[in-house]
Amino acid sequence: MTQKKIAVFVGSLRKESFNRKMAKALTALAPESLKLEIIEIGGLPLYDQDLDDEGRPPSAWTAFRERVKSFDGFLLVTPEYNRSVPGVLKNAIDVGSRPYGKSVWGGKPGAVISVSPGAIGGFGANHHLRQSLVFLNVPAMQQPEAYIGSAANLFDESGNLANDSIRDFVAKYIHAFAAWVEINTCSRKQ
Ligand SMILES: Cc1cc2nc3c(=O)[nH]c(=O)nc-3n(C[C@H](O)[C@H](O)[C@H](O)COP(=O)(O)O)c2cc1C
Repeated sequence: MTQKKIAVFVGSLRKESFNRKMAKALTALAPESLKLEIIEIGGLPLYDQDLDDEGRPPSAWTAFRERVKSFDGFLLVTPEYNRSVPGVLKNAIDVGSRPYGKSVWGGKPGAVISVSPGAIGGFGANHHLRQSLVFLNVPAMQQPEAYIGSAANLFDESGNLANDSIRDFVAKYIHAFAAWVEINTCSRKQ
């Protein structure tokens, strides 16, 4: 089995972000078959279609698109902002989806994890993201779902997962994703 490279996008720029801590926990618990890497998206200029249409995309967009193309799959780890997807993550998705016909997303497997201090675990953001992934032709893992609430209790002072229950869930999740990547990578090659 060849190791698959997974790009991880975090929908929060906050220094103490629970979602970034979750992205790191997923990385630490990933099986050998996956190599996770967080791709920073905070410096991407806001998407403006004119810049693509006029053939002068910002270098940050071009570098981002080239980098993302080299990955085998995607993990989106995000908070919910006003019951939807934070702008920084939606912008990264939009930048990667254009110019028309040159999307960097299509056909590669993905999964969505939402983390919130609230009780419903970012369900709204999670499903709005899934809606975009359908359009972008990213097969998004169906199960297990990950709407992770009460985030303030999940991490210790060092940012590590604080108890066995959440550690077991995150380990199961990332192993299920490894299987999802394997299945969808095989079907993509046929
Ligand atoms: C603009 C804004 C809107 C928010 N809207 C929601 C929301 O709709 N649902 C929710 O559960 N939390 C909401 N929150 C609270 C975030 O879940 C909380 O700040 C969380 O810690 C952000 O994730 P992070 O820790 O990864 O930065 C919102 C926060 C901000 C800044």
